[in-house]
Amino acid sequence: MKQPFDLEWFGGAPERYFRKLRPGVEELPWGTLRPADYPPLLVERARISWTEAAFNEYCTAAAFSDLLGALLAVRAPIDLIGMASDFVTDELLHVELTARLAMELGGGAPYQVDFEALTRRLAPAPGAASAQQRANDLVMRVCCVGEAFSVPMLSGCMRSAAHPLTRGVLEMIVRDEAPHGRFGWLYLDWCAESLDDAERARLAGVALGELEIFQRYWKRLRSKVKDGRTSEGFLLSHVNQLGWMDSESYAAAARQAVREDIVAPLARHGIELAPAAVDALLATD
Ligand SMILES: [Fe+2]
Ligand SMILES: [Fe+2]
Repeated sequence: MKQPFDLEWFGGAPERYFRKLRPGVEELPWGTLRPADYPPLLVERARISWTEAAFNEYCTAAAFSDLLGALLAVRAPIDLIGMASDFVTDELLHVELTARLAMELGGGAPYQVDFEALTRRLAPAPGAASAQQRANDLVMRVCCVGEAFSVPMLSGCMRSAAHPLTRGVLEMIVRDEAPHGRFGWLYLDWCAESLDDAERARLAGVALGELEIFQRYWKRLRSKVKDGRTSEGFLLSHVNQLGWMDSESYAAAARQAVREDIVAPLARHGIELAPAAVDALLATD
């Protein structure tokens, strides 16, 4: 059942505990991003975009909590599981930060979510029979593809963010994301010996399937920048202040991230994605 993507905040003891775990949030320059400084249509798009960001962070929190169960089921090393357990808190902080940015721009955009089905997409891939394969799948999708992709993309947005609040939020998020991206490779180092050729080939398929979902990050981005304005007529400086890169740079960075931060390290871990399939995924449209 779909419900509005409304988030609750308890306050008091849980808030103090959460702030002790992840300090520095209230020190960000909240209240300084003024919607009146930007064209209403651009503010509307930014509200939608930061609301979607909050939803994506929420989904990642759910995915990491699923992943923890899968890691415990295969008796992954305790320190490795301990590392991943901290990521749930990170992602919840990212939900808070991105949702507060949407609020700053006039409130979260209307968004309907089936909260009980958040990780249904991450159900075992066909052919994932054992607990080990289930853990392999989740790590592949959530970390080796999802988080490995987010790290360079968020860093790019952070570098172009031209307002102290969007930059501060993105800096905080990027700081957390590097270990999230690294986790997948550490996991593959741990289970390298247990992966036979058939399992490596299966995991290459899982990675390609996940990358297909990510195509929207580099395909059909048609906006271009000329003389400091986008094709839609927005000032690039406004676009950057609201926390985006321009579309052309974003698509180029996304294609580079797939090759350098996903396909290459997977190959170094003995998981080879068919070059023709990768080329087809990244082809310019
Ligand atoms: Fe995150
Ligand atoms: Fe993350």
